[in-house]
Amino acid sequence: MQFTASDHYVCTPDLTLAVNAAITLQRPLLLKGEPGTGKTMLAEEVAASLDMPLLQWHIKSTTKAQQGLYEYDAVSRLRDSQMAQVSHAAGQDNLGERVRDIRNYIVHGVLWQAFTADQPVALLIDEIDKADIEFPNDLLREIDRMEFYCYETRELIRAKHRPLVFITSNNEKELPDAFLRRCFFHYIQFPDATTMQRIVDVHFPQIESQLLQTALRLFYTVRDMPGLKKKPSTSELLDWIRLLMASSDAMTALDKAATQQSTPPLVGALLKNEHDLRLLDKLLGMQRNHR
Ligand SMILES: Nc1ncnc2c1ncn2[C@@H]1O[C@H](COP(=O)(O)OP(=O)(O)OP(=O)(O)O)[C@@H](O)[C@H]1O
Ligand SMILES: [Mg+2]
Repeated sequence: MQFTASDHYVCTPDLTLAVNAAITLQRPLLLKGEPGTGKTMLAEEVAASLDMPLLQWHIKSTTKAQQGLYEYDAVSRLRDSQMAQVSHAAGQDNLGERVRDIRNYIVHGVLWQAFTADQPVALLIDEIDKADIEFPNDLLREIDRMEFYCYETRELIRAKHRPLVFITSNNEKELPDAFLRRCFFHYIQFPDATTMQRIVDVHFPQIESQLLQTALRLFYTVRDMPGLKKKPSTSELLDWIRLLMASSDAMTALDKAATQQSTPPLVGALLKNEHDLRLLDKLLGMQRNHR
């Protein structure tokens, strides 16, 4: 099983290598990188290219590891048992049967679904750093041995096929060493201008070359400004280009920004706070004075 880049996603050779290394090692691929560098999309693309269903688990600050395994829905069972008493009195006992079997109230999490799927699946654990510090530790055994025990039904859930696991992190929290040991790690570097041009081409194949070149030049000028609080990312560049393409006088405004060091049009797609906007204005002002 080998992954090759798709038409919708620009995959650098080192990223392709990392995906294939994780496949060979049968270990989760831990992806880090700035927001918007295509971590989540990579999992979707790899799953599509290997023709595997993708199960996604989006982690929040309140997510617990147990939710990925299973949850026992005691409330529904209690409600059903009360309703069962009414239907029993009316001579219908289907609900009573259901209540007696606890398996009907075990809600399967994504890991359960991935482990019991009939075909190999890809599993995305997205933004693992959002959860509390215990979360990765609580999943060590499941990720390592690909099994867990359901105490309510007294069954061992073991993976029929080892899922291909992607884990993404924005580095908000450090991950424990024991967890890191079980993963193959790849940091997605921010794309250089050539790779970025390919990414834009994938999204906007009909873009005019002059617009693309000027927009890219301005984008990297803005991004490379020292002291930015939030650097614009790939997805913000794509939003900006989409807006520029929809605007009738974009080319004139872009040229003006490039030649006269004025604020680029629709800059709100790139810079997301007043500190960074002020910094850009200051830098452009300095460049104008030095002309
Ligand atoms: N290599 C790439 N090829 C094609 N499109 C890309 C690539 N990288 C990023 N993109 C575009 O950027 C968007 C953002 O990507 P994605 O959501 O996967 O980023 P992310 O790294 O998961 O960000 P976050 O950390 O904020 O979740 C995608 O929808 C896609 O349009
Ligand atoms: Mg993401």
